[in-house]
Amino acid sequence: MNLTVIDHPLARHYLTILRNKDTEPQQFRAAAKGLAYSLVMEATKRLPLQQIEIETPMEPTVGYAIDNVVAVPVLRAGLGMLDAVLEMIPNVKVGFAGVARNEETAQPQEYYAKLPDLSDASVLICEPMLATGGSLSWAVDKVKGSGAKSITALCVVTAPDGVKKMYEDHPDVQIIAAAHDRELNENFYIVPGLGDMGDRLFGTL
Ligand code: URA
Repeated sequence: MNLTVIDHPLARHYLTILRNKDTEPQQFRAAAKGLAYSLVMEATKRLPLQQIEIETPMEPTVGYAIDNVVAVPVLRAGLGMLDAVLEMIPNVKVGFAGVARNEETAQPQEYYAKLPDLSDASVLICEPMLATGGSLSWAVDKVKGSGAKSITALCVVTAPDGVKKMYEDHPDVQIIAAAHDRELNENFYIVPGLGDMGDRLFGTL
């Protein structure tokens, strides 16, 4: 299985705020950021490290540096996780992947993509709601097209259909999530889920 569901009290706390239909956009954004810290910690557990020589005030020693991490938020909901990534990995580069879901077919439609060369990068795709998996699979195709080989997806909530699609299309991609929910409804929304993540982040309900 390429899915890891994190189990941490803070993650459950923030996820509950996100799920609550009465949470206002301002609190929702803060909770999304709070939750994203835990997802980033888990997703970066196996990042390659460069060994470097440094000197403490006492003597020379060996240190470690992370290098060449690229975050790719899938627009627009992925932007809700970006601040946490920027704070935790200040030298991160950021690419953007814009995809809209056709509400009738639920198929992904690209409207914007701007990615750096990803050949040697550790790529963190921010796609909070893994519903049908169409958008994430499309985003992974895009980043692989730019050379990416090491790809981790950060999700808030996943659904069985999305995880299955990712396993079929991209079994090499690790998925880190805060919850794996029951199913999709007839409109391809995750249930119990948290509603439309983009609308709730940006107050466009
Ligand atoms: N996108 C969302 O924002 N929410 C869902 O439940 C599914 C897709």
